[in-house]
Amino acid sequence: MATTTAPTFPPAAGMDILFTKAQIADRVHALGQQISADYAGKDIVLIGVLKGAAIFLSDLARAITVDATFDFVAVSSYGRARVSSGAVKLIKDIDNPIENKNVILVEDILDTGLTLSYLRGLMLQHKPASLKIATCLDKPSRRLVPIEADYVGFSIPNQFVIGYGMDFAERYRNVDDIRLFPEDTPGH
Ligand code: XMP
Ligand code: MG
Repeated sequence: MATTTAPTFPPAAGMDILFTKAQIADRVHALGQQISADYAGKDIVLIGVLKGAAIFLSDLARAITVDATFDFVAVSSYGRARVSSGAVKLIKDIDNPIENKNVILVEDILDTGLTLSYLRGLMLQHKPASLKIATCLDKPSRRLVPIEADYVGFSIPNQFVIGYGMDFAERYRNVDDIRLFPEDTPGH
């Protein structure tokens, strides 16, 4: 009979750091300046993908000097996000219309690209004036569909990470740096 292993949660302090809190702050600040310059004189709508992008969005928004409003969407991908099955479902839509608005979709990680291609298609149906993508991390080697972000915090190899909003089984989102989750953890 097949057995499943319950996830275990090793302490974050024992995991290798990929990006420190200070490195993240510097990079997010630079992205905020770039976005502010690109949208000078315009208003933007930041649409965060819950829950992973919540922390990145809150820091990025404060590094942006043009007028910005927030909205949030939530999606579920069947099974663990790591092994994307390709099926993405919207579980929370935007609250406010985005027609003729300058929209930036804000995500924690661009991985296979399935989530953001789905969301981009959905958002384009609302006829925004423009639509761009900002992602904290990018794993280009994992891409299954052709999609690129306009603003990328850091490009990383195919390693599972936690912290700065990113989770393993909903844990570790509040870890303030980005760390490598150990591959040999039971349940991973
Ligand atoms: P796509 O559709 O691009 O999915 O495959 C992106 C989503 O996958 C999740 N993801 C991760 N979450 N550490 C995480 O905590 C990771 O290393 C990781 N890689 C992908 C994440 O939810 C992202 O939104
Ligand atoms: Mg996510």
